[in-house]
Parts: sequence; C-alpha cells; structure tokens
Amino acid sequence: MKKFLIINGPNLNMLGKREPEIYGTESLEEITKWTDERVKGKALLEWYQSNVEGEIVSRIQSAHSEKYDALIINPGGYAHTSVAIHDALKILKIPVIEVHLSQVYKREEFRHTLLTAKACSAIMSGLGKQSYYVAISSQIH
Ligand code: DQA
Repeated sequence: MKKFLIINGPNLNMLGKREPEIYGTESLEEITKWTDERVKGKALLEWYQSNVEGEIVSRIQSAHSEKYDALIINPGGYAHTSVAIHDALKILKIPVIEVHLSQVYKREEFRHTLLTAKACSAIMSGLGKQSYYVAISSQIH
C-alpha cells in the first residue's frame, strides 16, 4: 500500500473556527478523518501539523530517510514567504504536491506569490478538502 506524508502549516489547526466563509466549517481532524476514509485500503496517510517554520523544515528533512511515495503539503501562509521550506522540499526525491483549500489566485495579491510551490511537482488550490483528496488520488493511480 502506498504511504503519504501530509504536512499542514500554521493556522490550519484552527480550521472550522478560522474564517469559515473561506475555509469551511470542518476542523482539520474532520478533514483528516474524511480523507482517511476515502483512501482506505489504497493508501496510508500520516498527518503532521505545526505552526512553527523550523519544525516543518525538520519534518520534511526527516521524510528524506523515511519511505513515503509522495508528500502533500499545505504550507498555510508560509507558502508565500518561506525560502527555508522551499529549500527543504528540494531535498526530497519523491513527488511533492502543494495544496490549498482556497483558490489563492482569487484572493489578496500577497497570496499570488507561491514560493514553496516552485519546489513542488503540482499545485491544487480552491477545492476545499477535496484539494487534499485529489492530490493524494493523483499519486495512487
Ligand atoms: C491556505 C491559503 C494561505 O494563503 C493561507 O495563509 C492559509 C491557508 C489555504 O489552504 O487556502 O493559511 O494555505
């Protein structure tokens, strides 16, 4: 069975409470359960969330020596700013897909720069929780 690491960055632990008109009313835990359920028997998902840039960098680095088929990352606000996360992603040899719940290009201009995405093989943005599911599915089949 394929194994994926799914990293969520800052403020994604506040999903459900945070700007529900943009991000929806479901918590990260609910999205995790929904996604796990949908890929049951096809993929094993390991979820990680941190609000701290350095911790995310360290988790990406340790993924280098672990056996994952792909990495899915929602860097949150770090998507627009983090050279460090970008550089860590570049170390990996597996497919890396960046996901966003919201359609970032329809939002504020500062969200139009996707710095970490330059180190990713694909981007999925604007499908809500389906962004995760579509990204994972693309690596199962
Ligand atoms: C987000 C979009 C980012 O611009 C924002 O900072 C987030 C969430 C998304 O999933 O739509 O924290 O990554």
